[in-house]
Amino acid sequence: MTQPELAYLNGKYLPRHEAKISPMDRGFLFGDAIYEVVPCHHRKPIGLQRHIDRLQRNLKAIGITANKSDNYWRSVINTLAQDSPTEHCGIYLHVSRGEAPKRHHTYNNDLTPTEFAYSFQIAPPPSSANKPSMGLKLKSQEDLRWLHCDVKVTALLGNVLHYQHAVDAGFDEALLYRPGGKITEASASNVFCIKDATIYTPVLDHTLLPGITRGLIIDVLRDNSSLTVSEQDLTLQDFLEADEVWLSSSTREIAPVVQIDERIIGSGETGPIWATVIDLFQKHKYEYA
Ligand SMILES: Cc1ncc(COP(=O)(O)O)c(C=O)c1O
Repeated sequence: MTQPELAYLNGKYLPRHEAKISPMDRGFLFGDAIYEVVPCHHRKPIGLQRHIDRLQRNLKAIGITANKSDNYWRSVINTLAQDSPTEHCGIYLHVSRGEAPKRHHTYNNDLTPTEFAYSFQIAPPPSSANKPSMGLKLKSQEDLRWLHCDVKVTALLGNVLHYQHAVDAGFDEALLYRPGGKITEASASNVFCIKDATIYTPVLDHTLLPGITRGLIIDVLRDNSSLTVSEQDLTLQDFLEADEVWLSSSTREIAPVVQIDERIIGSGETGPIWATVIDLFQKHKYEYA
């Protein structure tokens, strides 16, 4: 018999199917919660301290006092990664404001946060020798989400609807732009475009998530290559005219894009800069805490 998958709930490890929370939990009723996804390859987390820093920052941003140390979260993540049935796994970690006696928008500060985590399978890391068989197709859409997209909250309905709309139209992901044309990100990834061997990505502000993978890519390239990386405001036109376009996220790492709307990007195939950068990323990604 296969072992039931392990989950973590409020200080205890238990089979995932036994993990239960109250329907009065504010995470369930209001999406009043934050989350993290930590990628692990060969059961080793990537950018672990950066993920924990973002988790602690996001708890503070929405005023949840979980009072757990970095070491505590590190131990939860490592325990689930070691127990994972697959050596390539993501650890999903979620902290809500907790269960309240009645449903009301406002909350008392004495609630006990609900902490939940589990592992799930992710693909092995891509490389130039192990290219994704197909590049991704993006559908551009006006970004209709709220203005705190820099906080990683579980209230993801805006992202969900953008993503679903793209998939329903036959695309793989959405490419989002604000009124006025500034590109922010995709619905579950950060975005890069490459022109004349310079790598561009939108500058961080409240309209996009400070992705850990985005930051790792920038640091790996600045420390280990002569490629220029520029963080700046970008438009849909910049992406349509780019030689290459990539998505980045913890579960995808760096994913090549070959089409935006009806426009083929570059040669329509995975580009040469992607191949260089993915290999540099694989070589150096464990060097950053
Ligand atoms: C909206 C959004 N932007 C960017 C990212 C990439 O962030 P990270 O590299 O930390 O996974 C994600 C990941 O889930 C996301 O949901």
